[in-house]
Amino acid sequence: MTLTPVAPLPDHEVRVRAPGKINLSLRVGPPDADGYHVLSTVFQAVSVYEEVIASSSERFELTVSGPQAEVVPTDEGNLALRAARALADRVGIDAGVHLHLVKDVPVAGGMAGGSADAAAALVACDALWRTGLGREDLVEIAAELGSDVPFSLTGHTAVGSGRGHLLTPALTRGEFHWAFAVQHRGLSTPAVYRAFDELHSGGDVAEPDPEDDVPLMQALRAGDARALGAALHNDLQMAALELDPGLAEPLAVAEDAGALGVVVSGSGPTVAALARSRQHALVLAAAFTASGVADRVLTAAGPVAGARVVSASD
Ligand code: C5P
Repeated sequence: MTLTPVAPLPDHEVRVRAPGKINLSLRVGPPDADGYHVLSTVFQAVSVYEEVIASSSERFELTVSGPQAEVVPTDEGNLALRAARALADRVGIDAGVHLHLVKDVPVAGGMAGGSADAAAALVACDALWRTGLGREDLVEIAAELGSDVPFSLTGHTAVGSGRGHLLTPALTRGEFHWAFAVQHRGLSTPAVYRAFDELHSGGDVAEPDPEDDVPLMQALRAGDARALGAALHNDLQMAALELDPGLAEPLAVAEDAGALGVVVSGSGPTVAALARSRQHALVLAAAFTASGVADRVLTAAGPVAGARVVSASD
């Protein structure tokens, strides 16, 4: 493929929004030779967003704002900067970019905030640099950056296999309403997977079977929140609770407040509670706040679209 990247225009700015996600189901198999685990998961993108504003620059620079901005690394390790560099390398463009992240998705919360930043940075730089790449090319770069980045590009609801990066869209009807109990202390994803391995050191982990999620997929297709609540599942939940026993509290509070289902999101520590309605999500959020079991409380609906340009200025 011959690509002729167009030089970026001065003072050009692109804004992209990318959603956070929850894992409606996360089934974890044994680790492979690289220490990665084979997954069968069902992602849903929810209306908690990261925004990335990309503007022309000679260097690669990053600034951050939002509720937990001070704990976000702004150096080369930041996944959004790595995404921008990976795209520049791929198309052979000799330009930098200034990325400004407006973060709302919990940091290290199990909701793929860093992956959303990376997906948004890819879409933003792709538009800024007019690379001419297709969506599949971006998905390919995304998968190299992290297991959840392809889903942050795609959004909606999807079944993930492999490391979670191989996606098949899932049929859903209607909207589901969520309340989230966020902890500022965060959990490290590799540490939670290590705790999972220790809990299963007896070798009792089978390959994850997507058939186990048939009731969940039926609930999604029917738009049946009650059935979805009963089908929520997370194999990492016990490992997250082992590292952070305090998570038992928001789980219990949501159950007492009548959540249709409650689950640790991904590797945690965010706890996601499924509500009967938008109104009920506010009730669940109020219960989290009143019982003091969360540093921050959010409500959201899903599914929503993946990383999208919201505005561009020439
Ligand atoms: O792919 P990503 O960089 O987001 O993964 C972060 C960490 O989570 C990995 O280094 C690995 O420890 C763990 N992980 C895993 N199996 C997966 C996905 C992630 O063990 N399928």
